[in-house]
Amino acid sequence: MKTIWYKNEVVKLIDQTKLPLEEKIVTCRDYKQVIRAIKIMQIRGAPALGIAGAYALALAAGKQGRDLKKLRCIANEIANIRPTAVNLAWAVERCYRVAAGHGTRNTEHGTVAAVLLREAEIIATEEKNACLMMGKHGEKLIKRGWRVLTHCNAGSLATVGLGTALAPIKLAHRAGKKISVFVDETRPFLQGARLTAYEMKKEGVPFEVITDNMAAHFMSLGEVDCVITGADRIAANGDAANKIGTLGLAVLCSYFGIPFYIVAPSSTFDSSLASGKSIPIEERPREEVENCGGMRLVPRGARVRNPAFDVTPAKLITAIVSERGIIRAPYRRNIRKTIG
Ligand code: MRU
Repeated sequence: MKTIWYKNEVVKLIDQTKLPLEEKIVTCRDYKQVIRAIKIMQIRGAPALGIAGAYALALAAGKQGRDLKKLRCIANEIANIRPTAVNLAWAVERCYRVAAGHGTRNTEHGTVAAVLLREAEIIATEEKNACLMMGKHGEKLIKRGWRVLTHCNAGSLATVGLGTALAPIKLAHRAGKKISVFVDETRPFLQGARLTAYEMKKEGVPFEVITDNMAAHFMSLGEVDCVITGADRIAANGDAANKIGTLGLAVLCSYFGIPFYIVAPSSTFDSSLASGKSIPIEERPREEVENCGGMRLVPRGARVRNPAFDVTPAKLITAIVSERGIIRAPYRRNIRKTIG
């Protein structure tokens, strides 16, 4: 499944707002079109956002050429579109530094645009490999016959590989472990019902879609063996931001004694933040809550809140799976050791 790629001077991506009903490809000829695609969630998911940001900067360099001041402004603009997922700012910053290091000359390595494109492709390859490694490490945590609950979409559509949280699930299924998956619908944007269900169906993993408020019920019946989610930013102490609703699941897991796992690549770790308290939480447009499936649900004039993420404290996380291995408490020390 292809999420985002570059070919013949354009960036192409699958429009995730149209899935699962329509597999439509969007073509972005300049960085502003990529910015729009990120804003309206045609592309989403932390690692995929990083790659989109890197491609956007490469497209911008194609137009702006070697003007580093302009490139700096554009890099800032891209990095700030979605503030919680650190992968976006991380990838754009990495690419900008490559451009700045390249200087203002055309060298034997090519133009700034070519150098940035190469860096974007390197990031995409690294993230794809990381998915496979996270899958291999995480698969060991899933026992035969387990019923796994996942939230949001942390699969191929959120990355350019197997996914983060969905990678261990896919590999456990491919290994014949006879697992099944509860897919949380994930209001308000329905990434679970629309995107994870689409991926599970394609992969042939047995799954059931549930609404977010059903998780406690199935846990109380003993029908959930573990919860696995992705993350958008992990602070130095292991506190992890992920899609709104993740915190509630972690609290439930703690109450019912169910393991709660986070799967995320090293690009999602933010060692500059001591704890999750400093993670910025993106507030999305109120329309996402007011409407569902194109229909207005909420009376006009009602006050609406729409934080897109919440932060799960490290003490509720059984383990964090990265491409470099499985990290357990004490998180501050072990994250420093594993991720650096
Ligand atoms: O708002 P989204 O759809 O970009 O949020 C995505 C998530 O919260 C994912 O769980 C997270 O990015 C991990 S995906 C590999």
